Amino acid sequence: MPDLIDNPEEYFRQFLPKRDQLLIELEEEARREEIPIVGPIVGELLHILASVTQARRILELGTATGYSTIFLARAFASTRGRLVTIDNDPDMAARAKINFHRAGLDHQIDILVGDSQEKLSEMDKSFDLVFLDIDKEYYASVLPHCHRLLKKGRLLIADNVGFKDADPFNRLIFKSSEWRSVNLFAFLPLHSPEKDGLCLALRL
Ligand SMILES: C[S@@+](CC[C@H](N)C(=O)[O-])C[C@H]1O[C@@H](n2cnc3c(N)ncnc32)[C@H](O)[C@@H]1O
Repeated sequence: MPDLIDNPEEYFRQFLPKRDQLLIELEEEARREEIPIVGPIVGELLHILASVTQARRILELGTATGYSTIFLARAFASTRGRLVTIDNDPDMAARAKINFHRAGLDHQIDILVGDSQEKLSEMDKSFDLVFLDIDKEYYASVLPHCHRLLKKGRLLIADNVGFKDADPFNRLIFKSSEWRSVNLFAFLPLHSPEKDGLCLALRL
């Protein structure tokens, strides 16, 4: 057995990625109002994955206050990047819009207000990366649209695949010949819940 770090959950809390004042404010607000944002570990992971894949067009399902959106949009290397994010809650969308302005990203983000399934069926322009974070019971039903809209060889990231409601999605993507996927069950400090799964899937 390798000699592992004692008390890893406490130990790794000291390595939370650095965030600016806006993101810290959004975390505090999310804690107060119980808004289920991804938190700094998944936020940073989204940023890194969007950067290394050089995503120019990103699609996000589930905006809330725009916390994860900001991590993703900050990965655009130039002002040419474009992110489309969808949320069915008009109040959340309005708050996100203000936060995009505060982050200086409003010119690169289009926020669509409405049901994901409905909005996706109206879309035909393709994307380099899709981040899935709506209510988990809808993951399986939006998957065909994600496949249609994501370019071949590009990445789908789904949060909260440790939720029971994500089970149909987990089974569907695992047996599908249209995706190559892996589930990571991990300790994610400041994510809610702190032990949860993430699915990374390559669009075949
Ligand atoms: C988990 S929160 C998103 C958190 C955000 N991605 C973050 O980490 O900062 C989920 C959001 O998806 C929205 N939502 C849930 N089901 C939806 C659906 N079917 N279509 C569009 N939006 C939906 C909710 O209103 C909520 O704001």
